[in-house]
Amino acid sequence: MKQLILSDQTPIRAGREKRVYLHPEQPGSLVKIINSDWLAFMYRNWPFQSRLRRVAHYFLYLNELIEHISLRARGLEELHFAQNITGLVDTDLGLGIVVEAVTRSDGSLAESLRDLIFRGAFGEVEYQALVKFCNWLGSSGLIIRDLGAQNIVWNEKTQNFVIVDGFGERALLSLRMFSRRYNQRHNMRKAEKLLQRTLQALSWDPTHNSGDSEISRQ
Ligand SMILES: Nc1ncnc2c1ncn2[C@@H]1O[C@H](COP(=O)(O)OP(=O)(O)OP(=O)(O)O)[C@@H](O)[C@H]1O
Ligand SMILES: [Mg+2]
Repeated sequence: MKQLILSDQTPIRAGREKRVYLHPEQPGSLVKIINSDWLAFMYRNWPFQSRLRRVAHYFLYLNELIEHISLRARGLEELHFAQNITGLVDTDLGLGIVVEAVTRSDGSLAESLRDLIFRGAFGEVEYQALVKFCNWLGSSGLIIRDLGAQNIVWNEKTQNFVIVDGFGERALLSLRMFSRRYNQRHNMRKAEKLLQRTLQALSWDPTHNSGDSEISRQ
């Protein structure tokens, strides 16, 4: 089977767990690879049994795949607010996950919510879009572990936020996996905190907005 060569490329983004590369053969796609520094840390510090999992460190992909499938099972339109996974690929840096790149109007990679805030580019349009995103999250049934501002990117073309990371639950078993209502309440709280943190970072008072811009409580 053919391997994609990524070792001669510089990642376009790098997080703690993953490195993100432009797909060398598929314009518009990204390949996410597990960060070798994080891998070394994990194998040094994690409990022995986690190294014995049959899927090795690729269990990191399982949460992403499960949450992706859970959205697709509810209908394709659910992917409006979440990254689209298109497959798995073998690379010279290990197994990678292929996703559609969210891009800006000029084709460059989308900015994260954090980037927008620091660039001073988060305004009324983005605020309304973030409220919509948070409302969707509250009703989506998605299991989210980390709703950080670096895990949400801005789709400039469709003017909506998209979650690209932080999927799944850290614990192997959680009530969130069994009770949709409980998980929805959890997501709602997380979404409210995200909005609060965003407004605090901007020192911005949105009280001039109409009531329908608040997160709806279902
Ligand atoms: N589908 C995508 N479209 C556009 N940009 C993306 C996409 N997926 C990831 N990115 C960018 O790459 C960065 C790192 O990706 P990702 O969050 O998946 O890695 P990570 O190592 O888990 O990150 P961290 O540990 O910092 O949360 C994101 O913060 C985002 O800026
Ligand atoms: Mg991330």
